[in-house]
Amino acid sequence: MSNLDAYRSAGNPLFNENKLKLGIFGPNCSNACAITLAETTFEPTFEKNLEIVGMLEDAGFECIVPIARWRGFGGPSNFNGNCMETYTWASALAARTQKIFLFATSHVPTLHPIVAAKMATTIDRISKGRFGLNMVCGWFTPEMEMFGVKMMEHDNRYEYATEWVQVLEKLWTEKWFDHKGEFFAINQGFSDPKPYQKPRPVLISAGSSSKGREFAARFCDINFSVVEDVEKGTKWVETMKKLAWEQYKREVGTFTYSYAVVRDTEKEAREYFNYYVHEKGDWEACDNICKVFGVQSGSYTPEYFDKFRENFIAGWGGYPLVGTPEQVTDRLVDLARTGIDGTLISMVDYNHELPYWNAKVMPLLEQAGLRKPLTKSAVAA
Ligand SMILES: Cc1cc2nc3c(=O)[nH]c(=O)nc-3n(C[C@H](O)[C@H](O)[C@H](O)COP(=O)(O)O)c2cc1C
Repeated sequence: MSNLDAYRSAGNPLFNENKLKLGIFGPNCSNACAITLAETTFEPTFEKNLEIVGMLEDAGFECIVPIARWRGFGGPSNFNGNCMETYTWASALAARTQKIFLFATSHVPTLHPIVAAKMATTIDRISKGRFGLNMVCGWFTPEMEMFGVKMMEHDNRYEYATEWVQVLEKLWTEKWFDHKGEFFAINQGFSDPKPYQKPRPVLISAGSSSKGREFAARFCDINFSVVEDVEKGTKWVETMKKLAWEQYKREVGTFTYSYAVVRDTEKEAREYFNYYVHEKGDWEACDNICKVFGVQSGSYTPEYFDKFRENFIAGWGGYPLVGTPEQVTDRLVDLARTGIDGTLISMVDYNHELPYWNAKVMPLLEQAGLRKPLTKSAVAA
């Protein structure tokens, strides 16, 4: 039995039979993934999030992934600066939902694994096995250095994360243990109760460097990456599966993230895209992010730089879904051709746009064979 078979047989929605699983990304943060000052009814409040998860559960979405953020990116919007902490967010939602799979996104350097293991177990048990951890190492230097420590070098961060997750797994599966490593010394490690999920809660990671992918293949159940096109996406899916299986005899799922602007006509969709990106985009916040990534105008052609920023403002550089319900379905059919398991989706205004998505796009995804129709019992459950 592979690591994922245990979740499949337990009926975990993340590993259900839908060919393309769906989630949303970042509703705990102001503006989620769109770096814009465009008007929106969405706010990162618990009340708005409850409204959103209600719509997601009704339509059969599989999961929600929050963003871990401790400060904003500046600019007039201070993009993502107003946000809810993700473990406490997931815990509250766990108590108010029935079906959807919830994640906390955890910056591993900011939290001791004994605390993380206990909090994760608590949420996993409250949700009856609908909780997982998105492990991130931190890359936004001012955010990590706000904690008063120097940010580690890139590959060292994954060394740290490796020991962090090894301690976490021991706390989740062993009775008593001692651990002495490079970063942690655990004396008589103990954590009870154990998680609801067996052998442990789902772990995911979005590492995209070779060290990051190695980490995902070794410890995670799903790896996230940007998909630029079908060809590159297919190659990444194959590489990840091969890496996990050949090196660690493990199965790893693959997800990406997309941004959606769906309207009755392509013209309306393009006009709104133009409005929130070009007229109302917070280009200053975007440039602050680009600087940290080292994507600056000097190092690329002006065309590449402008395209990169446009896509970043639109949805953190995700896979574009802009057009009519039919066009967006075609794009998702293409995406599924990579062999990917699912995608998160972001929208400028989740509260306002999700009803349209659920009414117009979901039935087309079913017709296209990407998703199974919701059964009455699943809706009522
Ligand atoms: C879907 C997704 C979600 C992510 N969520 C966060 C997050 O909430 N906080 C964060 O600091 N980084 C986040 N990241 C960044 C990744 O953890 C990672 O640093 C990045 O993909 C670069 O990969 P690398 O660490 O292998 O270089 C996310 C990336 C992706 C693709």
